[in-house]
Amino acid sequence: MNGSSAEHVAEAAERRWAFVVGAIVATMVLVMIVTGLHWAAMPPSRVETVDVRTLHVQGEFVESNLGTQLGANGKVTVRLVAQQYSFQPQCLVVPAGMPVTFRATSTDAIHGFVVGATNANTMLVPGFVSTFTITFPKAGDQLMPCHEYCGTGHEAMWAHVQVLPAAEFLSKARGAERLSCVPGK
Ligand code: CUA
Repeated sequence: MNGSSAEHVAEAAERRWAFVVGAIVATMVLVMIVTGLHWAAMPPSRVETVDVRTLHVQGEFVESNLGTQLGANGKVTVRLVAQQYSFQPQCLVVPAGMPVTFRATSTDAIHGFVVGATNANTMLVPGFVSTFTITFPKAGDQLMPCHEYCGTGHEAMWAHVQVLPAAEFLSKARGAERLSCVPGK
């Protein structure tokens, strides 16, 4: 094999690899464009909306329906509303070791919350219902700060969460319509 034919083979191999790499890059760019346009054009699935002007007076987020509900099917649902600069209820009661579904929204600015060092963490956007299900591994009291800057009172916006042993929670929840640990309630 003389020098020039070896060069020729090397050049062909280089060109082949350049083509493969170019095709991979082009595919990735195409995927980015298609998914970007897709998600810009349609909202994520399961988005629920709520009218901020009427949520105090009708529907799921009226005051009497806020707090923790033990459903007939044994499902635990916590409903809460955020506003500048508090959560309602200010103290939540949930069981340990059982799935708990949160349903929450905001009436004014964008808020959010995280429960202690758990994965219970969401943003609250006016007009939308944020929902997630989580199981708290152990009982204990947790702090629940607002974690989206929402105005001058942001750092004072907190709630408390009491995670009770499941048996204690169930005996409390069975008698109650909606459970919370707000003092005097
Ligand atoms: Cu509400 Cu920060």
